[in-house]
Amino acid sequence: MLRKDIERILISEEELDKTVSRLAEEIDRDYSSPDKNLVLLCILKGSITFMGDLMKKLHVPVEIDCMKVSSYGSGTKSGGAVKIILDIDRPDISSCDFLIIEDIIDSGNTLSYLTGYLMHKGARSVRTCTLLDKPSRRVVDFTPDYRGIEIPDEFVVGYGLDYAEKYRTLPFVGILKPEIYLK
Ligand code: IMP
Ligand code: MG
Repeated sequence: MLRKDIERILISEEELDKTVSRLAEEIDRDYSSPDKNLVLLCILKGSITFMGDLMKKLHVPVEIDCMKVSSYGSGTKSGGAVKIILDIDRPDISSCDFLIIEDIIDSGNTLSYLTGYLMHKGARSVRTCTLLDKPSRRVVDFTPDYRGIEIPDEFVVGYGLDYAEKYRTLPFVGILKPEIYLK
């Protein structure tokens, strides 16, 4: 039913699984020291699927937390200003090594804002991990620490990513037919 709105599959379930495994290995390797207090910070809602799959593949001890932000106004264009809709609420920020888990980096506004926000709150360290990267759309100069797959400037949905709150449940990442959002 949802699939009829997809022009083509850009990243298959198999490729997503391989990519998430590779990222989990990189994170395991970097956070293996016992003095780390790794907190995976899921950015709701788009990163839910990625976060769920990634955390199952990690061997290092982690805590999880969530924040909800919005930078996308409506439609398929980034709004620029980042608004915090749900904040973290924990007393131990100064002992946390945050790893922000994001579905996709586009303009870079969200990850650059959140990194600054958490550092300002006194986090011990902040790094970023994004499944997808659209480097051609960058507005602020920002390089994620962990990066899954570079994609072209196409609006994609599935594997957590939505258009107008739909398509998050698709198990692959697909390009939406433009007639859906040009309607
Ligand atoms: P940025 O702040 O411009 O880097 O935007 C990041 C956010 O925009 C992501 O967390 C997504 O929620 C959203 N986004 C960017 N590109 C896409 C896309 O192709 N499909 C769905 N959401 C997207
Ligand atoms: Mg998002």
